[in-house]
Amino acid sequence: MTTTSGPTGRAMPENDTPPGGPEVASSPPLLQLRGISKHFGAVEALKYVDLDVPAGQVTALIGDNGAGKSTLIKAIAGIYPPSSGEIFWEGQRVSLHSPRAAEELGIATVYQDLALCDNLDIVQNMYLGHEASKRLTLDEITMELETRRVLTELSVFTVRSVRQLVGSLSGGQRQAIAVARAVMHESKLVIMDEPTAALGVTQTAQVLELITRLASRGIAVLVISHNLNDVFTVADRIAVMYLGTLVECGPIANYDTTRAVELITTGAGARADG
Ligand SMILES: Nc1ncnc2c1ncn2[C@@H]1O[C@H](COP(=O)(O)OP(=O)(O)OP(=O)(O)O)[C@@H](O)[C@H]1O
Ligand SMILES: [Mg+2]
Repeated sequence: MTTTSGPTGRAMPENDTPPGGPEVASSPPLLQLRGISKHFGAVEALKYVDLDVPAGQVTALIGDNGAGKSTLIKAIAGIYPPSSGEIFWEGQRVSLHSPRAAEELGIATVYQDLALCDNLDIVQNMYLGHEASKRLTLDEITMELETRRVLTELSVFTVRSVRQLVGSLSGGQRQAIAVARAVMHESKLVIMDEPTAALGVTQTAQVLELITRLASRGIAVLVISHNLNDVFTVADRIAVMYLGTLVECGPIANYDTTRAVELITTGAGARADG
Protein backbone atom coordinates (compact mmCIF):
# COMPACT_ATOMS: atom_id res chain seq x y z
CA MET A 1 0.00 0.00 0.00
CA THR A 2 1.06 3.53 -0.65
CA THR A 3 0.53 6.18 1.94
CA THR A 4 0.23 9.90 1.93
CA SER A 5 2.64 11.25 4.47
CA GLY A 6 2.68 14.24 6.70
CA PRO A 7 5.18 17.05 7.17
CA THR A 8 8.92 16.59 7.38
CA GLY A 9 9.35 18.71 10.44
CA ARG A 10 11.15 21.43 8.50
CA ALA A 11 9.98 24.99 9.00
CA MET A 12 7.20 25.89 6.62
CA PRO A 13 5.07 29.00 6.26
CA GLU A 14 1.59 28.84 7.78
CA ASN A 15 -1.08 27.45 5.43
CA ASP A 16 1.63 25.62 3.54
CA THR A 17 1.24 22.40 5.49
CA PRO A 18 1.75 19.57 3.05
CA PRO A 19 -1.06 17.13 2.40
CA GLY A 20 -1.57 14.30 4.84
CA GLY A 21 -2.38 16.31 7.95
CA PRO A 22 -0.27 17.17 10.96
CA GLU A 23 0.62 13.61 12.03
CA VAL A 24 4.31 12.86 11.56
CA ALA A 25 5.19 10.08 9.11
CA SER A 26 8.61 8.73 8.11
CA SER A 27 9.01 10.80 4.97
CA PRO A 28 6.63 12.23 2.41
CA PRO A 29 6.52 11.01 -1.20
CA LEU A 30 9.19 12.75 -3.27
CA LEU A 31 6.59 14.66 -5.29
CA GLN A 32 3.04 15.50 -4.30
CA LEU A 33 0.57 17.32 -6.52
CA ARG A 34 -2.53 18.72 -4.91
CA GLY A 35 -5.45 20.26 -6.78
CA ILE A 36 -3.49 20.94 -9.93
CA SER A 37 -5.57 22.61 -12.65
CA LYS A 38 -4.50 23.94 -16.01
CA HIS A 39 -6.53 25.96 -18.45
CA PHE A 40 -5.68 26.72 -22.05
CA GLY A 41 -8.27 29.43 -22.75
CA ALA A 42 -11.61 27.63 -22.45
CA VAL A 43 -9.98 24.18 -22.44
CA GLU A 44 -9.62 22.65 -18.98
CA ALA A 45 -6.69 20.32 -19.63
CA LEU A 46 -6.23 19.43 -15.95
CA LYS A 47 -8.91 19.48 -13.25
CA TYR A 48 -7.89 19.31 -9.58
CA VAL A 49 -5.28 16.59 -10.04
CA ASP A 50 -3.88 14.97 -6.87
CA LEU A 51 -0.93 12.66 -7.41
CA ASP A 52 1.89 11.23 -5.29
CA VAL A 53 5.13 10.13 -6.96
CA PRO A 54 7.28 8.13 -4.51
CA ALA A 55 11.02 7.59 -4.78
CA GLY A 56 12.29 4.19 -5.88
CA GLN A 57 9.10 3.31 -7.71
CA VAL A 58 7.82 3.42 -11.27
CA THR A 59 4.53 5.27 -11.58
CA ALA A 60 2.82 4.78 -14.94
CA LEU A 61 0.56 7.58 -16.13
CA ILE A 62 -2.05 6.19 -18.48
CA GLY A 63 -5.13 7.56 -20.26
CA ASP A 64 -6.63 8.11 -23.68
CA ASN A 65 -5.49 10.70 -26.22
CA GLY A 66 -6.13 14.18 -24.89
CA ALA A 67 -6.64 12.97 -21.29
CA GLY A 68 -4.03 15.46 -20.02
CA LYS A 69 -1.00 13.24 -19.45
CA SER A 70 1.52 15.38 -21.34
CA THR A 71 0.08 18.55 -19.84
CA LEU A 72 0.52 17.07 -16.35
CA ILE A 73 4.16 16.15 -16.87
CA LYS A 74 4.80 19.55 -18.46
CA ALA A 75 3.40 21.12 -15.29
CA ILE A 76 5.92 19.10 -13.27
CA ALA A 77 8.75 19.88 -15.70
CA GLY A 78 8.11 23.62 -15.38
CA ILE A 79 6.96 24.04 -18.98
CA TYR A 80 3.28 24.76 -18.27
CA PRO A 81 3.01 26.17 -14.75
CA PRO A 82 -0.41 25.17 -13.34
CA SER A 83 -3.29 27.67 -13.30
CA SER A 84 -3.93 26.62 -9.69
CA GLY A 85 -2.96 23.98 -7.15
CA GLU A 86 0.10 23.15 -5.10
CA ILE A 87 3.25 21.13 -5.68
CA PHE A 88 5.30 19.67 -2.82
CA TRP A 89 8.84 18.37 -3.29
CA GLU A 90 10.28 16.35 -0.42
CA GLY A 91 7.48 17.77 1.69
CA GLN A 92 8.21 21.41 0.88
CA ARG A 93 5.91 23.54 -1.21
CA VAL A 94 7.66 24.59 -4.41
CA SER A 95 6.97 26.69 -7.47
CA LEU A 96 7.99 25.04 -10.72
CA HIS A 97 7.76 28.14 -12.85
CA SER A 98 10.44 27.19 -15.38
CA PRO A 99 12.24 24.12 -16.74
CA ARG A 100 15.36 25.38 -14.96
CA ALA A 101 13.55 25.47 -11.61
CA ALA A 102 12.45 21.86 -12.09
CA GLU A 103 15.93 20.78 -13.19
CA GLU A 104 17.53 22.40 -10.19
CA LEU A 105 15.34 20.31 -7.87
CA GLY A 106 16.46 17.15 -9.66
CA ILE A 107 13.62 16.64 -12.13
CA ALA A 108 14.72 15.34 -15.53
CA THR A 109 12.33 14.95 -18.43
CA VAL A 110 13.13 12.56 -21.25
CA TYR A 111 11.19 13.13 -24.45
CA GLN A 112 11.13 10.71 -27.34
CA ASP A 113 13.15 12.82 -29.79
CA LEU A 114 13.82 16.23 -28.35
CA ALA A 115 16.34 15.50 -25.64
CA LEU A 116 19.51 15.00 -27.65
CA CYS A 117 21.62 16.70 -30.31
CA ASP A 118 22.26 14.48 -33.33
CA ASN A 119 25.37 16.35 -34.44
CA LEU A 120 27.18 15.89 -31.12
CA ASP A 121 28.70 12.71 -29.76
CA ILE A 122 27.49 10.82 -26.69
CA VAL A 123 29.92 12.49 -24.26
CA GLN A 124 29.01 15.98 -25.51
CA ASN A 125 25.32 15.16 -25.15
CA MET A 126 25.83 13.93 -21.61
CA TYR A 127 27.17 17.35 -20.57
CA LEU A 128 24.95 19.52 -22.76
CA GLY A 129 23.14 22.25 -20.87
CA HIS A 130 25.22 21.74 -17.76
CA GLU A 131 27.95 24.16 -18.81
CA ALA A 132 27.24 26.41 -15.86
CA SER A 133 27.81 23.65 -13.34
CA LYS A 134 31.07 22.51 -11.81
CA ARG A 135 31.31 19.92 -14.57
CA LEU A 136 32.67 22.69 -16.78
CA THR A 137 36.01 22.28 -15.11
CA LEU A 138 36.21 18.61 -16.09
CA ASP A 139 38.47 17.79 -18.98
CA GLU A 140 37.52 15.68 -21.98
CA ILE A 141 39.09 12.50 -20.62
CA THR A 142 37.29 12.77 -17.30
CA MET A 143 34.00 13.44 -19.08
CA GLU A 144 34.57 10.42 -21.27
CA LEU A 145 35.39 8.20 -18.28
CA GLU A 146 32.40 9.50 -16.38
CA THR A 147 30.14 8.83 -19.38
CA ARG A 148 31.46 5.27 -19.65
CA ARG A 149 31.01 4.75 -15.93
CA VAL A 150 27.35 5.80 -15.96
CA LEU A 151 26.57 3.73 -19.06
CA THR A 152 28.23 0.69 -17.49
CA GLU A 153 26.42 1.30 -14.23
CA LEU A 154 23.15 1.24 -16.13
CA SER A 155 24.29 -1.82 -18.09
CA VAL A 156 24.05 0.01 -21.41
CA PHE A 157 26.45 -2.12 -23.43
CA THR A 158 25.00 -1.71 -26.92
CA VAL A 159 26.79 1.52 -27.89
CA ARG A 160 30.11 0.89 -29.64
CA SER A 161 31.87 4.06 -28.55
CA VAL A 162 31.01 7.07 -26.40
CA ARG A 163 32.47 9.18 -29.20
CA GLN A 164 29.79 8.01 -31.60
CA LEU A 165 27.49 10.77 -32.90
CA VAL A 166 24.07 10.52 -31.32
CA GLY A 167 22.52 10.89 -34.80
CA SER A 168 23.90 7.43 -35.63
CA LEU A 169 22.21 5.72 -32.67
CA SER A 170 19.02 3.67 -32.75
CA GLY A 171 15.88 4.89 -30.97
CA GLY A 172 16.50 2.64 -27.99
CA GLN A 173 20.12 3.71 -27.67
CA ARG A 174 19.12 7.37 -27.83
CA GLN A 175 16.59 6.75 -25.10
CA ALA A 176 19.31 5.05 -23.03
CA ILE A 177 21.65 8.04 -23.45
CA ALA A 178 18.91 10.45 -22.45
CA VAL A 179 18.25 8.39 -19.33
CA ALA A 180 21.96 8.07 -18.55
CA ARG A 181 22.20 11.83 -18.82
CA ALA A 182 19.48 12.20 -16.19
CA VAL A 183 21.31 9.75 -13.92
CA MET A 184 24.67 11.43 -14.37
CA HIS A 185 23.26 14.74 -13.24
CA GLU A 186 21.83 13.12 -10.14
CA SER A 187 18.17 13.52 -10.93
CA LYS A 188 15.76 12.35 -8.27
CA LEU A 189 12.76 12.13 -10.59
CA VAL A 190 12.94 11.00 -14.19
CA ILE A 191 9.85 11.67 -16.30
CA MET A 192 9.46 9.86 -19.59
CA ASP A 193 6.76 10.62 -22.19
CA GLU A 194 6.12 7.53 -24.30
CA PRO A 195 9.71 6.22 -24.14
CA THR A 196 8.97 3.07 -26.13
CA ALA A 197 6.46 4.43 -28.65
CA ALA A 198 8.84 4.27 -31.61
CA LEU A 199 10.85 1.23 -30.55
CA GLY A 200 11.03 -2.39 -31.68
CA VAL A 201 10.67 -5.39 -29.41
CA THR A 202 14.32 -5.71 -28.34
CA GLN A 203 14.84 -1.99 -27.83
CA THR A 204 11.60 -1.73 -25.87
CA ALA A 205 12.79 -4.52 -23.57
CA GLN A 206 16.09 -2.67 -23.04
CA VAL A 207 14.38 0.60 -22.18
CA LEU A 208 11.98 -1.14 -19.80
CA GLU A 209 14.94 -2.77 -18.09
CA LEU A 210 16.58 0.60 -17.77
CA ILE A 211 13.43 2.03 -16.18
CA THR A 212 13.45 -0.78 -13.62
CA ARG A 213 17.12 -0.15 -12.87
CA LEU A 214 16.48 3.58 -12.31
CA ALA A 215 13.81 2.78 -9.74
CA SER A 216 16.05 0.24 -8.01
CA ARG A 217 18.62 3.02 -7.57
CA GLY A 218 16.03 4.95 -5.57
CA ILE A 219 15.02 7.27 -8.39
CA ALA A 220 11.33 8.07 -8.84
CA VAL A 221 10.17 7.33 -12.38
CA LEU A 222 7.00 8.76 -13.89
CA VAL A 223 6.33 7.23 -17.27
CA ILE A 224 3.54 7.86 -19.78
CA SER A 225 2.64 4.88 -21.91
CA HIS A 226 -0.19 3.75 -24.14
CA ASN A 227 1.20 0.23 -24.08
CA LEU A 228 -0.43 -1.68 -21.24
CA ASN A 229 2.00 -4.58 -21.68
CA ASP A 230 4.85 -2.19 -20.92
CA VAL A 231 2.90 -0.71 -18.02
CA PHE A 232 2.19 -4.06 -16.40
CA THR A 233 5.84 -5.06 -16.96
CA VAL A 234 7.54 -2.11 -15.25
CA ALA A 235 5.09 -0.16 -13.13
CA ASP A 236 4.77 -0.35 -9.36
CA ARG A 237 1.83 2.02 -9.43
CA ILE A 238 -0.57 3.31 -12.03
CA ALA A 239 -2.34 6.62 -12.29
CA VAL A 240 -5.23 6.86 -14.73
CA MET A 241 -6.33 10.12 -16.33
CA TYR A 242 -9.64 10.72 -18.03
CA LEU A 243 -10.63 14.07 -19.59
CA GLY A 244 -8.24 16.07 -17.42
CA THR A 245 -9.13 14.29 -14.19
CA LEU A 246 -7.00 11.79 -12.33
CA VAL A 247 -9.61 9.08 -11.81
CA GLU A 248 -7.57 6.48 -9.95
CA CYS A 249 -4.10 5.88 -8.62
CA GLY A 250 -2.79 2.86 -6.77
CA PRO A 251 -0.48 -0.14 -6.65
CA ILE A 252 -0.38 -2.07 -9.92
CA ALA A 253 -1.34 -5.22 -8.03
CA ASN A 254 -4.84 -3.78 -7.58
CA TYR A 255 -5.39 -3.67 -11.34
CA ASP A 256 -5.54 -5.91 -14.37
CA THR A 257 -5.64 -5.02 -18.05
CA THR A 258 -9.43 -5.19 -18.26
CA ARG A 259 -9.82 -2.79 -15.38
CA ALA A 260 -7.16 -0.45 -16.77
CA VAL A 261 -8.86 -0.35 -20.19
CA GLU A 262 -12.21 0.30 -18.53
CA LEU A 263 -10.80 3.23 -16.58
CA ILE A 264 -9.01 4.63 -19.62
CA THR A 265 -12.12 4.49 -21.82
CA THR A 266 -14.89 5.37 -19.36
CA GLY A 267 -13.09 6.97 -16.44
CA ALA A 268 -15.23 4.96 -14.06
CA GLY A 269 -16.84 1.61 -13.33
CA ALA A 270 -16.75 -0.85 -10.45
CA ARG A 271 -13.58 -0.62 -8.34
CA ALA A 272 -11.24 -3.58 -8.63
CA ASP A 273 -10.16 -3.42 -5.01
CA GLY A 274 -13.60 -2.87 -3.51
N1 LIG B 1 -0.67 24.25 -25.67
C1 LIG B 1 -1.96 23.92 -25.67
N2 LIG B 1 -2.91 24.80 -26.03
C2 LIG B 1 -4.23 24.49 -26.02
N3 LIG B 1 -4.70 23.29 -25.65
C3 LIG B 1 -3.82 22.37 -25.28
C4 LIG B 1 -2.40 22.61 -25.28
N4 LIG B 1 -1.76 21.49 -24.86
C5 LIG B 1 -2.73 20.58 -24.62
N5 LIG B 1 -3.95 21.10 -24.88
C6 LIG B 1 -5.24 20.41 -24.70
O1 LIG B 1 -5.25 19.82 -23.43
C7 LIG B 1 -5.85 18.54 -23.47
C8 LIG B 1 -4.86 17.50 -22.94
O2 LIG B 1 -3.77 17.35 -23.86
P1 LIG B 1 -2.50 16.45 -23.56
O3 LIG B 1 -1.52 16.70 -24.64
O4 LIG B 1 -2.07 16.69 -22.18
O5 LIG B 1 -3.11 14.98 -23.68
P2 LIG B 1 -2.38 13.58 -23.58
O6 LIG B 1 -3.07 12.81 -22.51
O7 LIG B 1 -0.93 13.75 -23.47
O8 LIG B 1 -2.78 12.91 -24.99
P3 LIG B 1 -1.92 11.94 -25.96
O9 LIG B 1 -2.08 10.57 -25.40
O10 LIG B 1 -2.64 12.09 -27.25
O11 LIG B 1 -0.51 12.43 -26.02
C9 LIG B 1 -6.27 18.32 -24.91
O12 LIG B 1 -7.63 18.65 -25.02
C10 LIG B 1 -5.41 19.27 -25.68
O13 LIG B 1 -6.04 19.68 -26.85
MG1 LIG C 1 0.69 13.28 -24.74
